Amino acid sequence: MNDRFLRALGRQPVDRTPVWIMRQAGRYLPEYRATRARAGSFVNLCKTPELACEVTLQPLARYPLDAAILFSDILTIPDAMGLGLSVEEGSGPRLAKPVRTRGAIEKLGVPDAETDLRYVMDAVRLIRRELHGKVPLIGFAGSPWTLACYMIEGEGSSSFARPKALALDDAATMHKLLDIVARSVAAYLAAQAAAGAQALMVFDTWGGLLAPDMFREFSLRYLAQIAQSLQIHNVARHVPLILFSKGANSHLEALADSGCAALGLDWTIALGDARMRVGNRVALQGNLDPAVLHASPDAIRGEVKRALDSFGPHPGHVFNLGHGITPDVDPEKLGVLIEAVHELSAR
Ligand code: CP3
Repeated sequence: MNDRFLRALGRQPVDRTPVWIMRQAGRYLPEYRATRARAGSFVNLCKTPELACEVTLQPLARYPLDAAILFSDILTIPDAMGLGLSVEEGSGPRLAKPVRTRGAIEKLGVPDAETDLRYVMDAVRLIRRELHGKVPLIGFAGSPWTLACYMIEGEGSSSFARPKALALDDAATMHKLLDIVARSVAAYLAAQAAAGAQALMVFDTWGGLLAPDMFREFSLRYLAQIAQSLQIHNVARHVPLILFSKGANSHLEALADSGCAALGLDWTIALGDARMRVGNRVALQGNLDPAVLHASPDAIRGEVKRALDSFGPHPGHVFNLGHGITPDVDPEKLGVLIEAVHELSAR
């Protein structure tokens, strides 16, 4: 197996820097759009393991990537809790039954990953089979804070004022929600690992919206709860955990001490500066601005070189963007980026 990705997460030497791309299976690929059309909707695509497997493998057929990521969504957990997920073309995800009261939150239960989210575990098993050991498979979930944002708001938002107001007005109720979501995420990730996921990633997409004290209380604490749960249940020893708290660069040291193997970074910090702050406690993953893929091939190669030079000749770097690839990117540009990582990082 190509184990560069797992070796880099373990901060072991590699022949070149491994690379995968957040949202590598997605709308910028015409073959993805064709499969989604066949599925009828994004949610059907997620819930049909054969089709989820097909789109997971699509970017690997095009590019020499070093990891596959399960095709799914972070909102599978709220959906399994009964909130009713739909994703409309153009308007983003929506939950039909948001939870906004203590009463609604007290009625929530931890979904059983193997039954309520069986389609995800079936997809993981099928993808592992179809990968034939070519590259490792990443499983993932949303962070408790990020999932709570969608569960309370019911849809995306630029400010997530409702979840913040609940946290400030009734912290006890917010903690009740975050605790049940954290326990759900930990069980879901452990089940993905048992089904065959070889690394796990938690997306704390909206952690960076929180002021520092609120970040520690309502996001970091539950990320650490998940990391600890995976350690206690002996998952973390074999299956490394990557935490990605977007916009939370002021908390890197605390995130590195949470018990994870690696931190995902957005593009607002230089890799070298981040490495200086966390030392070699964790590996780092990232972190080009996705907008770089709109620039010329020469500029893309220049930015790849800048990122590799910034990290330096140490073990423990996984190349990626600093957030997901956007639907308007020309697939050939991603090819340029990946080729540049291969060429410029060869030891
Ligand atoms: O990386 C991969 O290739 C795996 C697939 C993946 C998807 N969503 C597929 C998807 C992953 C890892 C996610 C995680 C996810 N989902 C996050 C965290 C990562 C991040 O980007 O910060 C978040 C916040 C969500 C919630 C969500 N679901 C959003 C914001 C959207 C996009 C809305 C839009 O229209 O831009 C979705 C839907 C979604 N999830 C799509 C894909 C490919 C697009 C839907 C479509 O095909 O119509």
